[in-house]
Amino acid sequence: MCSLSLRPVLPTARLTLRPPEAKDASRIAAQANDMGVAAMTLRMPHPYRLEDANAFLAGLNNPLAKDKIVFAIDDPDDGLVGVIGFHGEDPRAPELGYWLGRSYWGRGYATEAVRAVLRWARVEWGKKIVFAGHALENAASAGVLIKSGFLYTGEVLDQHSVAAGPTKTRMMVWLA
Ligand SMILES: CC(C)(COP(=O)(O)OP(=O)(O)OC[C@H]1O[C@@H](n2cnc3c(N)ncnc32)[C@H](O)[C@@H]1OP(=O)(O)O)[C@@H](O)C(=O)NCCC(=O)NCCS
Repeated sequence: MCSLSLRPVLPTARLTLRPPEAKDASRIAAQANDMGVAAMTLRMPHPYRLEDANAFLAGLNNPLAKDKIVFAIDDPDDGLVGVIGFHGEDPRAPELGYWLGRSYWGRGYATEAVRAVLRWARVEWGKKIVFAGHALENAASAGVLIKSGFLYTGEVLDQHSVAAGPTKTRMMVWLA
């Protein structure tokens, strides 16, 4: 079994993935308060307020959420630009989720972050399977997942986005 740091810091070519901290709340709220971000996720509310960011950060310290591993995505100039992490009911097959503030889209940041956390999940966390899902219309996220080695399972789930309501999610799987 590999040694596991539950507070890993992962440097990538252009970014640092690191444990979120309480002081990140204002930047998370500023970046996340965007319907174009929230509507593509299941759990983010819109509008997204400072108290939502505080509640999100507090939830990460819940010992019951031990299989929830979340990274702040830091740009060297601007600081926190998004969040990426693993969650889910089945610890053998966690589910990956991520978002970036709109000003940071289109730079390849999400692909860089996804590849780094998958490498960490395989090498340090010992995971063999990771699931991810994207809304049918989310071509950008589909691109990120395909470039990172995910394949479609063929499942399309009827889910509910807190911000956008009913949504269809195309499920994908990555095998270590
Ligand atoms: C999805 C998201 C993380 C992508 O971040 P990003 O850093 O811009 O992604 P990348 O640049 O690494 O890759 C996106 C790829 O999709 C492509 N893409 C972007 N918009 C597209 C569109 N409308 N149609 C087709 N392809 C598109 C890009 O061209 C890129 O592929 P390329 O490198 O081959 O050109 C970002 O848009 C986001 O945070 N969206 C809101 C939240 C969200 O969707 N989270 C994921 C939930 S599943």
